[in-house]
Amino acid sequence: MIRLKVDPLNPEADSIRKAAEVIKAGGLVAFPTETVYGLGADALNPRAVEGIFRAKRRPMDNPLIVHIADFEQLEEVAKDISESVMEIAQKVWPGPLTLVLKKRDVVPPETTGGLDTVAVRMPAHPIALQLIRESELPIAAPSANLATRPSPTTADHVEEDLDGSVDVILDGGETFFGVESTVINVTTTPPVLLRPGPFTVEELRNLFGDVILPKEVVEAKESAMALAPGMKYKHYAPTKPLYIVEKNSIFSDVVNLFRQRRKAVALCSAETCADLAPPKIVMGTKENLYTVAKNLFKSFRELDSMDGDIGVMESFPERGIGLAIMNRAKKASAHRVISSLEDVERYAND
Ligand code: TXA
Ligand code: MG
Repeated sequence: MIRLKVDPLNPEADSIRKAAEVIKAGGLVAFPTETVYGLGADALNPRAVEGIFRAKRRPMDNPLIVHIADFEQLEEVAKDISESVMEIAQKVWPGPLTLVLKKRDVVPPETTGGLDTVAVRMPAHPIALQLIRESELPIAAPSANLATRPSPTTADHVEEDLDGSVDVILDGGETFFGVESTVINVTTTPPVLLRPGPFTVEELRNLFGDVILPKEVVEAKESAMALAPGMKYKHYAPTKPLYIVEKNSIFSDVVNLFRQRRKAVALCSAETCADLAPPKIVMGTKENLYTVAKNLFKSFRELDSMDGDIGVMESFPERGIGLAIMNRAKKASAHRVISSLEDVERYAND
């Protein structure tokens, strides 16, 4: 494995060229996007794509996102795109919105988990865009973590999970948003939200008019009748139990009550953390929930590596980026939600 340090705003051409050669030869390159790091391979080469699944230990029926750098590549991988969807794509890309579209035959079933649709996005990150351009290929890339771990927001996270199974890591520092892209299926009218992300529901409704928010997406439930195949798999959960405290008014009481029995690590905003004794992980500020999103997965990794038995996390309003934060947090907590002090007793022997 080689790891190359790259300037995220002005990527060095020779590093990009080396990585692009690996993609062209069917190898694996981890690279930053504006959301999280991706584990990339030639989206049109079944053998290369199989390498991604092997490295991540991901079930083969969970499809990948195809990353493109221009609209010619969109036409190459997807078909039957309505005029209105095309207009919206032109407005929002590059950006953290993934569109599920009808796929063309050049995209092998390995990439799409055997579906006749393909998830596509144009990432707003200079390293990702240059890598796709230099490879002259659409790049299939899921998040660059082991299937059991949180998505990586730094090159160190990628190396922790995938050292030995990835050919090149392009280290472009921390990613900008810290949670994965919004995924929306636009093959139906109205479109259906499959994963909340940095591109908010409020913004989607402005663009598309009506958007369906399935109950299991909002409640972050793993669904047997999977809308997005990824939804039927158990998502990352920390090795230690994680609890979400519904009401902020009882947060410090809940933490202190847990601490009578267990070593509880508090995961909270600077404001809520201020009066709490350690151990605690400050995730960002309530004033700007993008700071919390950016540190979310890093905080989960930290919880696992810290001295402590359990994690107790504050809730955030499920608006804007808050919906994506709470969606990931609920999954990570396996829906252990605390709404009263009595609930602490109920979970005491977890
Ligand atoms: O921000 C992101 O989206 C990152 C960066 C690297 O771009 N990628 C990412 O990929 O999060 P991944 O594979 O971890 O998540 C892709 C999600 C999965 O839940 C998958 O099931 C869903 O998108 N998906 C992919 N293709 C689909 C399709 N054809 N129909 C429905 N869902 C699909
Ligand atoms: Mg992922």
